[in-house]
Amino acid sequence: MNHHRSFEAAQVALRLLAWYADCGRDLPWRRTRDPYCIWISEIMLQQTGVTAVIPYYERFLRRFPDLRTLAGASVDEVIALWAGLGYYSRARNLHAAACRIMAEGGGRLPEDLKALQALPGIGRSTAGAILSIAFNRKAPILDGNVRRVLIRLYAVEQPPRAATVEKELWRRAEELTPEDRAHDYAQAIMDLGATVCIPRQPRCAECPLVSLCLAHDRGIVAQLPRRQPRKTVPLVHQVALLLERDGKLLVRKRPLQGMLAGLWEFPCRTQETGQQAASAVQALLRGQGWRGEPRELGRVRHAYSHFRLEVTVFYLATEPACEEQLVAEAGQSLWLSRTGLEALALHGAHKKVRELLAGSS
Ligand code: ADE
Repeated sequence: MNHHRSFEAAQVALRLLAWYADCGRDLPWRRTRDPYCIWISEIMLQQTGVTAVIPYYERFLRRFPDLRTLAGASVDEVIALWAGLGYYSRARNLHAAACRIMAEGGGRLPEDLKALQALPGIGRSTAGAILSIAFNRKAPILDGNVRRVLIRLYAVEQPPRAATVEKELWRRAEELTPEDRAHDYAQAIMDLGATVCIPRQPRCAECPLVSLCLAHDRGIVAQLPRRQPRKTVPLVHQVALLLERDGKLLVRKRPLQGMLAGLWEFPCRTQETGQQAASAVQALLRGQGWRGEPRELGRVRHAYSHFRLEVTVFYLATEPACEEQLVAEAGQSLWLSRTGLEALALHGAHKKVRELLAGSS
C-alpha cells in the first residue's frame, strides 16, 4: 500500500481550502480558538445539526464560560441546560471529563490525540476535530459528513460500516489531511459534506472536487453511500397524564441514573403488550391512589436510537379528595403553573406533550 501523499490527495486539499475561503460558513465556534469552546461545539455537533446546536452552544458557554466553571457545576445543571439536544450521555461525559481535566490535567485540554481519546465522550474523530480545529495540528477526521464525502470521492460501494471499509476510509482521511492549515482543512471538509455533498440531491455543480470524484465520474453519486441493512426499532406505547389542580400541573423528576437522567416529565406509564391506553392510564391513576375519568387529548411520537415512543396523552382535573395522597407522593414531584412548565427541563417526548397541552386550551 502506498502511504505517500498522492498528487490527487494534495489537489483535493488545495481545492477544498480554496472553496472554504469563499464559501465556508460563519459559525459561532469558528470565531474562537479556545480549545474548551471547540470541545463543547464538537460534542454538541456529534449527533445534532448546526442550526439546532447554535442556540445551545451560546447558552452553554454563557453559563459555563470555562472548564473550571463547568467542573464546578452540578451534573444536574449541566443536563438541564442540555435538555432538548438529546443523547444526554454527552452532557454527563462533558461534565465528567471537565472534572478529570481539572483534577489531573492541569485545567487544560490535552494537545494529544491519545490523551483526548482517553476522555469520556471523545472518540477518534472528535479527538481529530479538536486537535485540528483548536490546535491546528494534523489529525484525520471521519464524522458522518466526511465519511459521505470520501465514500463518493472514492466510489466506495461496500456497506459503509464494514470493518475493511472503515479502515480504508481512515487511511484516505489521513492521506488527504494536509500537514499545514489543519484548522481550515477540517472545517472545509466538514462544510462540504454539510452543504454541498449532502445525502440527498447533492449539489455537484457547486462542488470543488467534482472533476476528481469517482462516484460522479460513474454517475452513482446519488446511490452512495449504500444503505446499511436496517434493524427495525421497536415501538413502545406509553400513557402520560396531565393532572391539573388549581391551575397547576403535576410533574416529576427522573432518577439521576439511567435514561434521560435528571430530566422532568409528566406522570407516565408504559403500556403492556395488548393493553389499551385507557386501561393503562387507569393503572397509572390507581398506582398513585388517584381516581377519575381522564380525557384523551391526543398522541405524540418521539424517536430514540433504539426504540420509538408513542405517547397517548390524557388530561384530568383532580378532585380535592385526592389531595392528601398527592402531597404524600410529592417527594420527586412538583405542582407547576403553565408558565412554570415553560422553563422546565422536560425530556424531548414530554416537551411534545407540553405542546399538546398548550394547543388544547
Ligand atoms: N460538524 C462537526 N463539527 C463541525 C464544525 N466544527 N463545524 C460545522 N459542522 C461540524
